[in-house]
This record gives sequence, C-alpha cells and structure tokens, in this order.
Amino acid sequence: MTVESVRPKDANATEEPPVAGGAVPFLGHGWRLARDPLAFLSQLRDHGDVVRLKLGPKTVYAVTTPALTGEVALSPDYIIAGPLWESLESLLGKEGVATANGKLHRRQRRTIQPAFRLDAIPAYGPIMAEEAYELVDRWRAADGVLDITYESFRAAVRVAARCLMRGGYMDAHADRICADLTTLFAGMYQRMVVPLGPLYKVPLPANREFNRALADLHVLVDEIVADRRASGQKPNDLLTALLEAKDDNGDPIGEQEIHDQVIAILTPGAETVGSTIMSLLLVLTEHPELGDKIRDEVKSVVGDRHVAFDDVRKLTYTANVVTETLRLYPAVWILTRRAVADTELGGYRIPKGADLIYSPYAVQRDRRSYERNEDFDPDRWLPGRSKDVPKYAMSPFSVGNRKCPSDHFSMAELTLITAVVAHAYGFEHASESDPRPRIGITLRPRRLMLRARPR
Ligand code: HEM
Repeated sequence: MTVESVRPKDANATEEPPVAGGAVPFLGHGWRLARDPLAFLSQLRDHGDVVRLKLGPKTVYAVTTPALTGEVALSPDYIIAGPLWESLESLLGKEGVATANGKLHRRQRRTIQPAFRLDAIPAYGPIMAEEAYELVDRWRAADGVLDITYESFRAAVRVAARCLMRGGYMDAHADRICADLTTLFAGMYQRMVVPLGPLYKVPLPANREFNRALADLHVLVDEIVADRRASGQKPNDLLTALLEAKDDNGDPIGEQEIHDQVIAILTPGAETVGSTIMSLLLVLTEHPELGDKIRDEVKSVVGDRHVAFDDVRKLTYTANVVTETLRLYPAVWILTRRAVADTELGGYRIPKGADLIYSPYAVQRDRRSYERNEDFDPDRWLPGRSKDVPKYAMSPFSVGNRKCPSDHFSMAELTLITAVVAHAYGFEHASESDPRPRIGITLRPRRLMLRARPR
C-alpha cells in the first residue's frame, strides 16, 4: 500500500504495521541495520509505508513514504526522543533547543530564531566569504595532500562560531572543538546502535577518551561564555541573545540552560556543515564537469573580483549542486521521534511510547520520487523540473517545529564556499583517500584525502 497524501487520522485504527522481512532470531533486524544501514533503510518501503523493526527486544516503527515522514514531522503526537536523541543527550544536555520539548523548546526557538532569520544572514556574509577564501589560501600554501575531514570541519566550526558568537577567540578554540566533536560523534553513534548502557561507564580506553572529549567541550563552552561576560561587550549576536534571554516568568535563564544552548547550536551546526562540505568536495572530485560549470557561472556573475555574499542568490547552478548534494548525501540521514499518545499513521495503530525512525537518505533517493534516482543531476532543481518532486521527498533540513533553524544560513554558507573553492581548484583523490560513506550520527565520506589543482 502506498500513501502519497496526508489524510485524516483514523482514531480507531487497530491494525499493526507489518514486520519488515529479514529479521533473525534474537537480533531481529539489528544486524542488518548495523551492517549496512543505508541499504537496509533504502529497501524498507518495499515492505510497506510503515513497518515494524525488531531491534533486539525492542520494536521500532520505520516510516518510509515522503508523505508520512512529513506527517510525523508536523504532528504534535511525536516528540524529539528515541534512540538518536538518547545517544545525543550526553553531549547536548537536556536544556538545549535540540533536545528540549514542549514549552521550553518553544521559548528557546523564540530566543535563537532572530539570529537565523533571512534578514540576519547578510551580516554574516563577509565572515563566510573570508573563511571560504581562507580555505583557498590554506590549500595553496599546503601544496600537497589535503586532509579534507579536518579542513571541512575546521571551516564549519569557524563559520558557525564566528558568525553566531562573534568570537575572536576562535583560532585558539576551533581545533579543540573539532577534535572533541570527532571523538564524541563517533562514540554517540556507537551508543545509538549498540545501546549497552552501563558498559559505556566502564573505564576502557575508548570510554575514557569519550569522557575526556566531553569534559573538554564543556570547559570550552564555559570559557566562551566567561570570555564574553568578561569583555563586557554585547554585540548583536546569538550569544548575547542567549545571555539576555528570559524564562517564562521574565527571570534570566539559568547557567546550565545557557551552556546547553551553546552546545546544542554549535555542535549540530559544525557536524552537519562539516559533513556536507566533505560531500560537496567528493562530488566536485568525482564529477569535474560540475566544477567547470560552477567556474563558468562564477566568471559570468562575478567577473574577476572575489565572490561576495550578495552574489549568492545569482549563483543558481552552484546552489543546485549544493541542493543535489544534500539530496544524495544528506548529513542528517536518520531521524527518530517518540509517540506521546496512542495514534494512527498511514492507517496503522501507533501506540503511545513507540519509537519511530525515518531516513531522509532513503526518502531522497527513492526511485518512486525521482527519475534516475541515483544520478547526480543538479538540473533536477531547475524551477520547471523541481515541481515534480513529491511533497516532503526533499527535506534535508526537516519540516515542522523542529526544522533546522539554520537552513538559509547553511545554504548561503555552502553555496559561497562551493563557488569559491570550485572556481579556484579542481580536485583529485590521493592514494589514501577512502570516499565510501562513513555512517555515524551524520553521513559523510569516510576519509577524503585530496589534491587541489589550481585552475
Ligand atoms: C548542511 C547543514 C545542515 C543540515 C543538513 C541540518 C539538518 C537539520 C535537521 C534535519 C534538523 C531537524 C532534526 C529533527 O527533525 O529531528 C536540524 C535541527 C537543528 N539544526 Fe540543523 N542542519 C544543518 C546546519 C545547521 C547549522 C549550521 C546550525 C547552527 C549553527 C544548526 C542548528 C540546528 C539546531 C539548533 C537544530 C534543532 C532545532 C530544534 O529542535 O528546534 N543546523 N538540522
């Protein structure tokens, strides 16, 4: 059965969704999910619009059609919870915008939203452009093989922190933040797919390393907040908004909430953008003709001067390359929710407390939604063609009240960086490069080692 439109709820739905095929005794579907999650999630729609998965003793409901993933994201019956968010809680805390629910979440979104509004973004333009050209200069100076994981994450951390927290402290802190986040995100993914609870408290080297990185990140964030307070400055940025935020009684929000908020904004920002810059550089390496076209577009729109933020809206081909990269390599490839009421989805009963998962990766590569679904084709985002894409079949930033606040910010940043680096360089894999997907909390190439050839 395939459902392509959101339909009224049937409160009396009694039918359980089918169990997906391929479960084995004891482990259920867990072994297939752990072994090859992208392939496993991508074939689930063949089993139904909503299917039950057995992960060890646990049942999880997988949602497979664009329409129903949209319905989940938009419905108040499902909140931020479930395996992904539980694994993230050790990092993000419980009082930050990414993990809070209900009233607290609404208030926090109101605090952070102005920093991400469309009219706030041009002010970040000069920083984004500066960081893009810094990459070009660094790569020229490097004159050898580039470790693109490091380069991408460094750029992502610097842009987020410099734009949103106006930190001059960033040179000293960016490297530490990157190193800590790499350790933490790897550890959290393991905790999500292999939820061994107390075993992660045993002082094994990997656990000690995870705890050290977590402690260091918390110290860093406290330093960022303390530096700002000590400076006595109140620039018009996100950090000032957080420091001045009031709770529902009009009292200043607590220190813990400020701390959790900084982490909850910096870490998803760095991880997702870093992963996407890596994917973009992989795409430019494997499809050099895209780089040529971007260069032509930059030449015709910008001429010989530097690309500036104001050019971004005219760089439509470049933006379509970014969009197509987000379709095929969505950094956020899996999402989870929890039902807070007995409810219905696609005609099936979903019990209160059920954990749901869905995969933007699977939805955005589905042959039922996209012709030549596996092909990299930026022109599918031309106005005449993009209208054929089913609703919610392209939601790399999600929809509804948990939609990424940074969608415009990120698109501007990624388009600018892509234009600047593709104009300056073509890319080739070095022998140690391993472009296979690395599946963690985010999706990105495993180890990208590239040579940048000046054009
Ligand atoms: C390529 C870039 C990015 C992608 C693909 C992305 C994707 C997403 C997605 C899919 C969600 C929704 C999660 C859910 O529905 O459960 C989300 C939430 C969020 N993102 Fe992003 N994101 C990106 C960049 C950023 C940046 C740069 C920042 C901040 C600097 C950021 C901050 C956040 C925050 C704070 C949330 C939680 C919002 C809430 O729960 O209300 N993201 N992001």
